[in-house]
Amino acid sequence: MSENHGLVRVVYSDNCLKPINIHEYEKLATEHLSQMALDYYNSGAWDEITLQDNCAAFKRVKLRPRMLVDVSKRNLTTKVLGQTLQIPVLIAPMAFQCLAHSEGEIATALAAAKAGVGMVLSTLSTKSIEEVSTSVHNTNFVAPQWFQLYIHKDRALTRTLVERAYAAGYKALCLTVDAPVLGQRERDRRNQFTLPLGLELANLTSLSGLNIPDPEGESGLFTYFAEQLDPAVTWRDLEWLQSLCPLPLAVKGILRGDDAALAVEYGAKAIVVSNHGGRQLDGAIATLDALAEIVEAVDGRAEVILDGGIRRGVDILKALALGAKAVLLGRPVLWGLAVGGEAGVAHVIELLRNELDVAMALSGCTSLDDVDSSLLAWEKHQVIS
Ligand code: GLV
Repeated sequence: MSENHGLVRVVYSDNCLKPINIHEYEKLATEHLSQMALDYYNSGAWDEITLQDNCAAFKRVKLRPRMLVDVSKRNLTTKVLGQTLQIPVLIAPMAFQCLAHSEGEIATALAAAKAGVGMVLSTLSTKSIEEVSTSVHNTNFVAPQWFQLYIHKDRALTRTLVERAYAAGYKALCLTVDAPVLGQRERDRRNQFTLPLGLELANLTSLSGLNIPDPEGESGLFTYFAEQLDPAVTWRDLEWLQSLCPLPLAVKGILRGDDAALAVEYGAKAIVVSNHGGRQLDGAIATLDALAEIVEAVDGRAEVILDGGIRRGVDILKALALGAKAVLLGRPVLWGLAVGGEAGVAHVIELLRNELDVAMALSGCTSLDDVDSSLLAWEKHQVIS
């Protein structure tokens, strides 16, 4: 394996602006996406307060950098659930990536694996569980792939998804628990969101493919959730899920310490602090603000991963200083995918890796173990309040 873990250097045509940060990727992506896809990716629920607050929360946290530390060598690697990551990042589960690029989840998976970051494949992917794992297994690169699960009313179908992920070599199950119904994203409702003809739910081909506009004028995905997903899921279902295969369980969508403690009691090995990118309950707490309480409640019994609002490498440093082991990276990956396919995703990862590296040097950190709460200018309780 190469020293830089095979990072792909992005090359765009000379007359095309090559983004130098995630904000520029966000702007450029608007030129590469249909209005329906752009709105689907970028929207949050209702007034999008939580969506905005996820990013704003990072701006509220200030750092106390350490000086005169020899930072000439820096190590950004970590382990999550025993699996090595070259930087403390996994790609968040995001549906329908072929809306952004024809190679969709395969392009994302290849860029992630080559950079040594993890990837969580969505149940609602437009490339199948097997296609995505095979594409990475056919390379020399090793990075963990996890499978995100929505529990469908049809439990036999849900069981099959889990068995397929296990057979295909995924390393963990990531159960999303914040979506008993889909949040109301009004941009999708206005667009009557559907999948373009030719795209399908690659893991769920027996179900209706979301290609036909909803007769009531709803977002097709909202209707899919109402018809197919089980809103009666409770903590007890975690026992059933864990009986299906030996993969470790990550529970995604936790925003309170008591829920995090329950998840641990029911067997979760990782807690993903997430509000679904502001797409479910608008008005829910920003994930960075929820983090300290959850880290305290978990008390080292599981790994805590922060999802939502990461736009700079220094944001990753802040999440780790507040106790996260790693972060999930969401929309920036979709923007990179839309702009440049695999190379675009690789460049997004590389930009954040470079920024994290510089942020560590400027904070006096040589490894992620040095990134602790002493770097925070605010006490943990002040961050929560
Ligand atoms: C799918 O999981 C979504 O939140 O849009």
